[in-house]
Amino acid sequence: MKIEIDTEARSLSVDEGGVGRHLPLYSPEAFALLSKLWVKVGWDVKYIYGFTWMGRPIIQLPEDMVRVQEAIYRVRPDVVIETGVAHGGSLIFYASLLKAMGAGRVVGVDIEIRPHNRQAIESHELAPLISLVEGSSTDPRVVERVASMVRDGERVLVILDSNHSRDHVGAELEAYAPLVTKGSYIVATDGLMQDLYDVPRGKPEWRKDNPVEAAKAFAAKHADFVIEPPPFYFDETMGSHQITHWPSAYLRRGR
Ligand SMILES: C[S@@+](CC[C@H](N)C(=O)[O-])C[C@H]1O[C@@H](n2cnc3c(N)ncnc32)[C@H](O)[C@@H]1O
Repeated sequence: MKIEIDTEARSLSVDEGGVGRHLPLYSPEAFALLSKLWVKVGWDVKYIYGFTWMGRPIIQLPEDMVRVQEAIYRVRPDVVIETGVAHGGSLIFYASLLKAMGAGRVVGVDIEIRPHNRQAIESHELAPLISLVEGSSTDPRVVERVASMVRDGERVLVILDSNHSRDHVGAELEAYAPLVTKGSYIVATDGLMQDLYDVPRGKPEWRKDNPVEAAKAFAAKHADFVIEPPPFYFDETMGSHQITHWPSAYLRRGR
């Protein structure tokens, strides 16, 4: 793809495989195109490795955190389960929302919880709302342990942010989707991988080996789940589109 931007003429010209388009620079179409590229370049220069939430590094695009907050506030889960803890920032983020909402707790699963991360999470002021489970998220003993931490009748929302290969996410979807309650979501994050096959730190195989492929395969097999992002509860934009690392991530349980 070739893009030419002329800020004086306020125009953007794009050539994709010999097909050219000319757009006004200050238009929703130009913004969508530039955003898509910005997200790819940002991923390659590790833009998301620059934020903390209440003191802990959170490896997420802030836009995705605002969107998942919209889902959590509407669903009001009793339990948020997250696979992939790393430094704990996202666990603390979910715990802080639940605390502000007055109820709920989080369960974090990671194959390796480094001692300094565990120490920081367990000494955080939100630690009473957080349980950590160490082990592979697809290990049946881990799945069973997590399931045993959910009580009958509790509303559950699940976020998958561990190993993002298609097979691993597919196995996580099969393992954790049964815990998701009607109207809630299981979120297969980081589907952006599908667009990162041609960036310097990306891999060609990610075009097919990614969480979006896993989510689509899961939805095709399970009629009770649909790929459907949370509604845009407030939208006075000039053409809503998402700046996200989580395309086609939200699987909503309909029944
Ligand atoms: C992208 S990081 C998680 C980031 C974190 N959710 C946040 O927002 O800050 C991915 C984590 O997944 C963990 N992981 C990788 N494979 C895993 C597996 N099979 N089961 C559980 N966790 C795994 C890694 O140890 C790493 O901590």
